[in-house]
Amino acid sequence: MSKRRVAILISGRGSNMESLIAAARASDFPAEIALVLSNRPDAPGLASAKAQGIATAAVDHKIHAGREAFEASMQKMLEAHRIDFICLAGFMRLLTASFVTHWAGRIINIHPAILPAFTGLHTHERALKEGVKLHGCTVHFVVPEMDAGPIIAQAAVSVLDGDTPETLGRRVLAQEHRIYPLALRLAASGVLRIEDGRVFGAGGAEAALASPAP
Ligand code: GAR
Repeated sequence: MSKRRVAILISGRGSNMESLIAAARASDFPAEIALVLSNRPDAPGLASAKAQGIATAAVDHKIHAGREAFEASMQKMLEAHRIDFICLAGFMRLLTASFVTHWAGRIINIHPAILPAFTGLHTHERALKEGVKLHGCTVHFVVPEMDAGPIIAQAAVSVLDGDTPETLGRRVLAQEHRIYPLALRLAASGVLRIEDGRVFGAGGAEAALASPAP
């Protein structure tokens, strides 16, 4: 099977992007990173991808009249690079139902919490406030509803007594970097099946994804 041509969509730092780029260097990886696209022209991740010889594009949401016009520009760029799979990696724009539906089954996202808990922003602060003892991250297929959709992989970290949003966030991020490449490998290789909103076919991957306590 030929490699899926993946676009990584970012808005900022791009550390998850880096973990996907690194994983995709393996010759047996079922996807190649064909484009890094950002809605922020000054995103640090964009410069880094460019320096690594990866095609990049900036589609600035601020210069578009609305969400539809912004997404039409993105779609054009994705088509120009013959993209067939999208990874959202810290992409901080909500996507319309029509864009998401067009890419259904071919667009995945990473979220810094164990969904369906803590959708939205400031997940580490909110996890600490609630006093949960386990926190973590999720990779899921994207559906029109925000931070929802069939779950491919999750990892948990223990919340420690002295944690701040920063210390907890750092441990979660380390797990994000571990599970996103694994989830992309599964999704791009076509072994996953979605039934009734659940993902099947990850095989033994679930065990590999359960993270030990720190
Ligand atoms: C990551 O923690 C990612 O899970 C989160 O933004 C961060 C981006 O960091 N995404 C969301 O909150 C999406 N709602 P990165 O740019 O270093 O990958």
